[in-house]
Amino acid sequence: MMKTKYAQVGTGGRGFMYAQAVAETYASLAEMTAVCDRNLGRAHLYQDYFKEHQTRPVAVYGEEDFDQMIRDTRPDTVIVTTMDRYHEKYIVRAMQLGCDVITEKPMTIEAEMCQRIVDTVKSTGKSLRVTFNYRYSPPRTQIKDLLMSGIIGEVYSVDFHWLLDTSHGADYFRRWHRNKVNSGGLMVHKATHHFDLINWWLSSFPKSVFASGQRRYYVPETAERLGLHNRSERCHTCPEASRCPFYLDLTVGEGLKQLYLDQEQHDGYFRDRCVFSPDIDIEDNMNLIVTYDNHVQMSYSLNAFMPWEGYIVNFNGSQGRLEHRCMESVYISGDDRVPGEMIGEATSTTLFPHFGAKQDIPIWEASGGHGGGDDLLLKDIFTPDPQGDPYQRAADWRGGAYSILTGVAANLSMDNGKVVLIDDLVQGLENPYF
Ligand SMILES: NC(=O)c1ccc[n+]([C@@H]2O[C@H](COP(=O)([O-])OP(=O)(O)OC[C@H]3O[C@@H](n4cnc5c(N)ncnc54)[C@H](O)[C@@H]3O)[C@@H](O)[C@H]2O)c1
Repeated sequence: MMKTKYAQVGTGGRGFMYAQAVAETYASLAEMTAVCDRNLGRAHLYQDYFKEHQTRPVAVYGEEDFDQMIRDTRPDTVIVTTMDRYHEKYIVRAMQLGCDVITEKPMTIEAEMCQRIVDTVKSTGKSLRVTFNYRYSPPRTQIKDLLMSGIIGEVYSVDFHWLLDTSHGADYFRRWHRNKVNSGGLMVHKATHHFDLINWWLSSFPKSVFASGQRRYYVPETAERLGLHNRSERCHTCPEASRCPFYLDLTVGEGLKQLYLDQEQHDGYFRDRCVFSPDIDIEDNMNLIVTYDNHVQMSYSLNAFMPWEGYIVNFNGSQGRLEHRCMESVYISGDDRVPGEMIGEATSTTLFPHFGAKQDIPIWEASGGHGGGDDLLLKDIFTPDPQGDPYQRAADWRGGAYSILTGVAANLSMDNGKVVLIDDLVQGLENPYF
């Protein structure tokens, strides 16, 4: 069988999951031709990995040589795992050069970028897969299954509250995510997962968004309150390191050191900038009211300085209420721990039927990264079930667009204090669920 040829742009922490899937788990079906990154040190680490795990040599290209990479190595599919801000640039260019694309979330971060992607998908006819791993996490797939079965009748409203803790949540304030220009803020970078889950759980899409948000915790005043008066730009050189609860030691653990500290010489990027820096311009607490095409209304909140990480989502329907609560393990990206592992005993789903007894629903088992979603997502990408998927977990540009546009609209609404209509943001959107 002919192997599918891949090229990958973005050789950071998350990208390695795809590299490993190509070189190891799905090696009989796939091979990597080349990798591309702005930071050539990180790209060479990937090249070294492929030297050990793949017979075919993998070429390295810099940011400016993306087109050359496609011309030289002729991949079928480009995997995009760069910083969010550049997803659109590589998605559009890869499709123009004749490739299909698999991209990490968020598909992109601004309405204009989303419009360019929508237009390019339509003009080139190429396929664009957006990898929403949360859909594949068994307890979240189970919520889809329960709602599809009509267990609470027609859903009228949703309360959805996501908590990021002072480990994983704080980490967004150290890295490139801390500036909206790179990530779209947490409303896009992080909440794209949550808004996608809701769109998919409800089989609908957002129509209007009202939001308010602010940053109150990751500010210089909090550092002063904690007695951290003598702060530096980054943890590595900070005189307060021994007293700061947010100190990140990049020298502990091979993952962080090799991938970031040892590669700073190539691009000057610091992975451990101070979480209390005044340079940060993203919010740490946000509240939204969202209405959907099927008339569901959702109240949603995201707080990034919580003592535990996870979420609570409640669906209120014509025949009862479904409550789902999930707690995730402590980690930060790249620290060699399993990311987003679900804590089984702290995860529950409960049905409260109208006029009937409460029922605790046994949770579908999940193990591994992101509530067991990562491995199942990869399996579906590399070996899709020919029978199809009753849950429609594979997402394309339509799901990718609707998942980011709630957050894009929230950013606008936080700025102008008004309700933002999704139809005013991007033209040519299509319902993913019909
Ligand atoms: N689905 C998930 O659960 C999940 C988890 C983590 C990250 N992600 C996504 O994966 C992507 C990568 O995140 P990460 O945590 O690996 O970040 P990272 O900082 O570790 O890696 C990003 C890489 O992009 C490179 N890069 C930046 N600008 C570039 C450009 N213009 N051209 C080429 N390369 C460029 C950087 O040098 C770096 O190697 C992000 O889009 C993020 O949202 C998804």
